[in-house]
Amino acid sequence: MKGELLEDGDAIMLVDSRGRRYLKRLRAGHPLTVRGTLLNADDIIGRSEGCLAGRDQPERFRVFRPSYAELTPLLSRPAEPIFAKDVGLILCRGDIRPGQTVVEVGVGAGLTSMALLRGVGEKGRLVSYELREDFAAEARANVELYEGPVDNWTIHLADARHGINERSVDRVFADIPDAAALIQPVAQALRGGGIFISYAPTVLQIKDLRDALEASNTCRLAETFEVLERSWHVQGRSVRPDHRMVAHTGFITVARRLSH
Ligand SMILES: C[S@@+](CC[C@H](N)C(=O)[O-])C[C@H]1O[C@@H](n2cnc3c(N)ncnc32)[C@H](O)[C@@H]1O
Repeated sequence: MKGELLEDGDAIMLVDSRGRRYLKRLRAGHPLTVRGTLLNADDIIGRSEGCLAGRDQPERFRVFRPSYAELTPLLSRPAEPIFAKDVGLILCRGDIRPGQTVVEVGVGAGLTSMALLRGVGEKGRLVSYELREDFAAEARANVELYEGPVDNWTIHLADARHGINERSVDRVFADIPDAAALIQPVAQALRGGGIFISYAPTVLQIKDLRDALEASNTCRLAETFEVLERSWHVQGRSVRPDHRMVAHTGFITVARRLSH
């Protein structure tokens, strides 16, 4: 767990006077360039998060380590990540807790992996399945950069539709296009009472998944929902919903494993 003072190697978010955000890394002896402004990393290292950098420059920036929600839109990623509004509910409705063993299917850039690792804590375990070696490598680098080193995370380079090796796991989370094809491996992996959580963007994927769950008779109490997030504009006496909102991103489905 990082403290208040910014350290060499930290991932940081610089925020300019107009609220624009830039993701950078602090490296001792290396300058940072942001929109043409040159900042000296050595002047930032050792100062508190929230400090103002670039005192002698025309443009100055507030410096923070990015929070999970701030990181997601800033991170360049090879696959569509799950944003904080959905991840919050995935953790809560999926009942992800410290000490659990969780299987994740579909790692992408590792953003949801970060949230799951926080959820299971140091005593829990995350085992992820990913088809693509390059995605897995990028995800691991992201997790190490933004979360720090983890020794309770394994990534299998495999198609989870062909099988999940783990048994008696507490939760399985899937973010892949055809989660309906995962029902049998999920049922084999989950312990009785365990929870299957799936995230998918389109209605037809939900229909296929719910039909497959219904037909398999291995999981019940299925529920599907989505989260609409409406931010507010608060400036002086102008207090109202923003003109734009984050409406549809994806559907979350949860179901519980039956036992005999
Ligand atoms: C949408 S991305 C996951 C994004 C991730 N949840 C995040 O927030 O960064 C889906 C990922 O699933 C992987 N994938 C698709 N089908 C798979 C399968 N059958 N088994 C394992 N991984 C799969 C893809 O290669 C891709 O990396």
